[in-house]
Amino acid sequence: MNVQFTDVLIIGIGIAGLMAAECLRSHQNVTIITKSSFQNSNSYRAQGGIAAATQQDDHWAEHFLDTIKAGRFHNEEALTEILVKEGPELISLLEKWNVPFDKNPDGKVSLGREGGHRKSRILHAGGDRTGSKMINALFNRVAGHVTIKEHEMVGDLIVEDGRCRGAWTKLENGEVAVYRAGAVILASGGAAGLYSVHSNDESITGDSIALAYRAGALLSDLEFLQFHPTMLYTQGKSFGLVSEAVRGEGGVLLTDQGDRVMKGIHELEDLAPRDIVARTIHQSINQGRKVFLDVSNVKNFTNRFPTITKQCNLARISLKDGWIPVAPGAHFTMGGAVTDEWGRTTVPGLYAVGEASRTGVHGANRLASNSLLEGVVFSKRTALNILEEPCAAPVSAPNSLDSMQTKSAGWLPDKEEIKEKMTKYAGIVRTPDGLSEAIAWFEEYEKCTPDFGCTIHEMEVLNMLQTAKLIVTSAFMRKESRGGHYRTDFPVSNDREWLKKQIYRRKDYHEQAEAKKTAAGIFA
Ligand code: SIN
Repeated sequence: MNVQFTDVLIIGIGIAGLMAAECLRSHQNVTIITKSSFQNSNSYRAQGGIAAATQQDDHWAEHFLDTIKAGRFHNEEALTEILVKEGPELISLLEKWNVPFDKNPDGKVSLGREGGHRKSRILHAGGDRTGSKMINALFNRVAGHVTIKEHEMVGDLIVEDGRCRGAWTKLENGEVAVYRAGAVILASGGAAGLYSVHSNDESITGDSIALAYRAGALLSDLEFLQFHPTMLYTQGKSFGLVSEAVRGEGGVLLTDQGDRVMKGIHELEDLAPRDIVARTIHQSINQGRKVFLDVSNVKNFTNRFPTITKQCNLARISLKDGWIPVAPGAHFTMGGAVTDEWGRTTVPGLYAVGEASRTGVHGANRLASNSLLEGVVFSKRTALNILEEPCAAPVSAPNSLDSMQTKSAGWLPDKEEIKEKMTKYAGIVRTPDGLSEAIAWFEEYEKCTPDFGCTIHEMEVLNMLQTAKLIVTSAFMRKESRGGHYRTDFPVSNDREWLKKQIYRRKDYHEQAEAKKTAAGIFA
């Protein structure tokens, strides 16, 4: 068996994995494993931007309030506070590291707005190419300083005496490799790729959730799945995301009859939080309407949104009319492996960052452009924790894999079938009967787990099945409708009173007066 030793093993090469690698590389020997390449991650595809209260007329307390309001007050407050407080400092660091945030002609940073934000506080780069610009900048910093293994998939984490001590992997040529590590960071994204229409990279198959689960880590909030309101959807298929930033620049949602979709639904109308906009569009479509994003009011559309322009060309949508056909699609997983403020999961030696983690900062519904922010803030903290408590990799090969089978997985459903089940039973609108049916279907495969004999494709399908079962079970167990989890048998929970109390209870807000002003803004 090919056994390799490293101080820190990072699984996944999105923004969270790269940020951790960058913060660790001068002090620790770091290996990154990805089953595809550094251009295949959700971070790389991120269009919108990164949110932070960087301006004089903004404040982290306001960003905090927008975050927990969008999150339907299900957020972990202490970690949310860390996220928004440390955000501006991380933005400065990224600028120093050559992330080319877009500027206005006057040289000041150009700020956009997206759903749920009451202020323009979203930085972007290359128009709608923020994710790829950030990834390229970080990748250039780590390349040559860490070991990067592409096209290699982790089969399982190795846990010995209650501590995570590495992972085994499968290479595309069928070989198996084993990594021994002092610390392992799970950074391989969420599970929105388990749905028929989604915004994720095709490599997203719920791996991190399945790996953490099999390693015995505590998972939470898996029922909270965010559906992005506007995927470019035509000819029965999706042609990618149409960023919420388009609505931030004046785009409006219309039915085929020209009626405003969001009029009278929410005070922020087209910029209402995503769960509300996605459900409203879903309802219009179910009533037989078609929904369009009218971008005729958006200035310099093609310059500001080059990626979306390209997608429209591909889908043969003429931007002259300004009407882009849209439908909601699965986008982001709020749940994952539970972590503390230092990225630690409940399994010693195992950390989780980015969408793989459940820090709790997104509550039941993530605020737009808070995901890249979470990736950088908590990956830096994770790296600091590892540096404070370094642990050497074990010096020998693991005994725990000696009994590993080498047979193939046997008959498995195909990926499309799994996605159809998830879309039908655990999509934007869920029913108790549908969830029970889904649980029964996924239970059939419960005992199947990857072993040395599986192909990479089989390993992905097994992870999808396991993650799907966890999501539908969590959705069945949560007896309420909140954020990204909507059930027909429960009304939407709305805890405004709770929020009011929070605002006045917290002593450490920068000034009581400012908190009051913020509250007045929210409840006006
Ligand atoms: C978008 O551009 O609409 C997506 C950004 C995000 O998910 O935060």
